[in-house]
Amino acid sequence: MITHFHIENFKSLADFDLPPKGQELAGFTCLIGMNGAGKTTLLQAFDLTASLMVGRVEEWFRWRDWGPDDVRTRLHGPARNDIRVVVGARLANGIEVAWDATLSLDMMRCLREAITVGGTDVLRLQEDGSLWVANDDLDGKTFDSVPFEFGGSVLSTLRLDSYHYALREMKEMLLGLHSLELLSPQQIRRSSRESEDIGPGGEMLAGFISLLTDEQRADLKQKLQKIYPQVKDLQIQHKQYGWKGLLVTEQSMAGHPVTEAHINDGFLRVLAMLSQAYTKHRILLLDEIENGINPAVAEELMDFLVSLTSDDRQVIVTTHSPVILNYLDDEVAKAGIILLYKSPDGRTHSRRYFDIQENAKKLRALGPGEVFLDTSIEALVDRIVKEEAQPLTAA
Ligand SMILES: Nc1ncnc2c1ncn2[C@@H]1O[C@H](COP(=O)(O)OP(=O)(O)O)[C@@H](O)[C@H]1O
Ligand SMILES: [Mg+2]
Repeated sequence: MITHFHIENFKSLADFDLPPKGQELAGFTCLIGMNGAGKTTLLQAFDLTASLMVGRVEEWFRWRDWGPDDVRTRLHGPARNDIRVVVGARLANGIEVAWDATLSLDMMRCLREAITVGGTDVLRLQEDGSLWVANDDLDGKTFDSVPFEFGGSVLSTLRLDSYHYALREMKEMLLGLHSLELLSPQQIRRSSRESEDIGPGGEMLAGFISLLTDEQRADLKQKLQKIYPQVKDLQIQHKQYGWKGLLVTEQSMAGHPVTEAHINDGFLRVLAMLSQAYTKHRILLLDEIENGINPAVAEELMDFLVSLTSDDRQVIVTTHSPVILNYLDDEVAKAGIILLYKSPDGRTHSRRYFDIQENAKKLRALGPGEVFLDTSIEALVDRIVKEEAQPLTAA
């Protein structure tokens, strides 16, 4: 699992850590904060990180219709032409791995990369183009220059089977990172062909569900009914030329299903989230989970999202909804609710919400969502920012 994420020069994430340095990311993370604090930006930053491992950074930019100028930090201070990402992770065997990469925004590939395993180097790509990689016995191999063209990370193209196992595991982990920050009901309503994935906006959900096994489809229906008891059946509509659509039958419908065109936004978003239980994605990112969703179904939805973490997955969501927060157990809330806020210079920072003393105190008497309702985020951020501006007195 990812224990730490650091990024420099990505929009308001000028020099950003999640969680603050010295702390570890939990299985379930819920990002909160004012509008414009940088929550969506952070999900985009994770998504960019995954694209480095795919090796198609240019496509990532093109798909969003962005250029380097859209992402470089535009705040006071010298402008930079690279993005640095550091990911700390713990492998299944308990070993700590760190990947430190610097992406050139001119070349759309990493200029420098280093991977350490338990503090020992296993890969070094340097700005002069030289590459050093170790195998499992930590014997290194040096290339004066990388013997192939690559985009993003050198790991995207390097044949990893003969090198240190941690390189493969780090790559796998980051490839398993899936951001649904672009999930939209309009996209989900489109027909699609068979697909291994639901697509960034959910546009291939029907095609993805069409490939599930009968068992998985039955399980999905059951999960859906737990949240929407009025659902009687979920089917795939097979259209001409291999296109797939969704058909939903409700108890009251006397057997006549409706197509996705007539299904409400919240339902489609929930269905897309539930479908993630059957993907290979290990780290799931969702923006504003409460969008279009009735508070009455929030509890079941939260239970589902938290339950994904017991399957050794990580889930990172953003929300503005106190209702959502109230369905978290105190322990999950303490470890997982993270406040994003901006300092007056426009940079985003993170802080565990219940590490803030006044919130921790309130949590003894109130639920996490009630604390959130009881505390003006604006005033809270004001206080944090003032506190941080105080010059530290010598010990
Ligand atoms: N290139 C940039 N440099 C610095 N700040 C930026 C840049 N691009 C966007 N921002 C800031 O980030 C904000 C958007 O943050 P966003 O992640 O959408 O917030 P949230 O999702 O928390 O509401 C913008 O309002 C702007 O203040
Ligand atoms: Mg947002």
